[in-house]
Order: sequence, then structure tokens, then C-alpha cells
Amino acid sequence: MEKTLVIIKPGTIQRGLIGEVITRFEQKGLQVCGVKMIQLTDELLAEHYAHIADKPFFPRVKAAMKATPVIVLCLRGMDAVHVTHILAGATNGREAAVGTIRGDFSMSVQWNIIHTSDSVKTADAELARFFREDEIFDYKQSYLEYIYSEDEII
Ligand code: PPS
Repeated sequence: MEKTLVIIKPGTIQRGLIGEVITRFEQKGLQVCGVKMIQLTDELLAEHYAHIADKPFFPRVKAAMKATPVIVLCLRGMDAVHVTHILAGATNGREAAVGTIRGDFSMSVQWNIIHTSDSVKTADAELARFFREDEIFDYKQSYLEYIYSEDEII
């Protein structure tokens, strides 16, 4: 099954929403297979946000992402990358649909609650960036047969 990366951003941690966010993923049926708190650095952020490094707002993004430690999650499930991205909602919290995580908890582009990988290729690179192999756990989700049908589990 697919794995994807989520970063719970500093604003979310300050607002006491860690549990709310993780609950959304658990309730959906995604399995938490890695979780840890880390302090982001300029080096990690330059790599992670290389695609926006030349934008005028990048220094602000870097400062915001270093404001407190963040929580990185590895989520596992069928089509986990797409499902997690959809659950997050549009990048701008003001435009994100009600019912999505950003739609329900964010009014901002910068303080948009979480980062989620946007493709399978990106997810593989981002998981490798933030987790060692032995920090991602492969264990049976005991109620798997109530989340997916038999043919979906294959
Ligand atoms: S891209 O190029 O499609 O990936 O860009 P996008 O998804 O829109 O945004 C990438 C990340 O940049 C942050 N962002 C901003 N921060 C502050 N101010 C402005 N104007 C701004 N525009 C984009 C946005 O929060 C995205 O961060 P992540 O961590 O991916 O959600």
C-alpha cells in the first residue's frame, strides 16, 4: 500500500490542533505508520521547498516553519497520497472546501495547518527526507477488512 508524508505546521501546534488533525486521518481509515517531532532547519527547508525558493514569500515560509518544532507523519493506505491531499483541501485555507482540514481550521495560505505530499514520487522523496527506514513501521491494521473490500486489499 501507498505511504505519504504529512507535516503538522507550527501554527497548528500552537493552536492545540495536533489531535484534531491526526484524528481526521485516523477516522478516514489511514494508518499512522510513523510519527515524530522534529525541529526544521534552513537546510531541510531549502530542500523541501526548493520549488518555491525563488518566491518573495519564501523567507517568511522558512521563519514560520521554524517557529516551533513540527510533527512529521507517515500515513499508509490505498491511494494514500491522493486521499491525504484531498483531505487537506486547497492550499489557501480561505478557499479550501468546508469539511477538509484546511477548510475547517485555516484562514491562511501560510498557516494552512499541514503540508501533504502532492504525488507518489514526491511522497517517496519527502518520506526519505524526514524519516529513517527504521522509523516507519509495517504492522497490521487489525480492522483492515472493515476499511477495504477483499478485492481492494490485494
Ligand atoms: S506549488 O508550487 O503549487 O507547490 O505552490 P503551492 O502549493 O501553492 O504552495 C507551496 C507552499 O508555499 C506556501 N505558500 C505561501 N506561503 C506564504 N505566503 C504565500 N503567498 C504563499 N503561497 C504559497 C504554501 O503554504 C505551500 O506550503 P505547503 O507546506 O506545501 O502547504
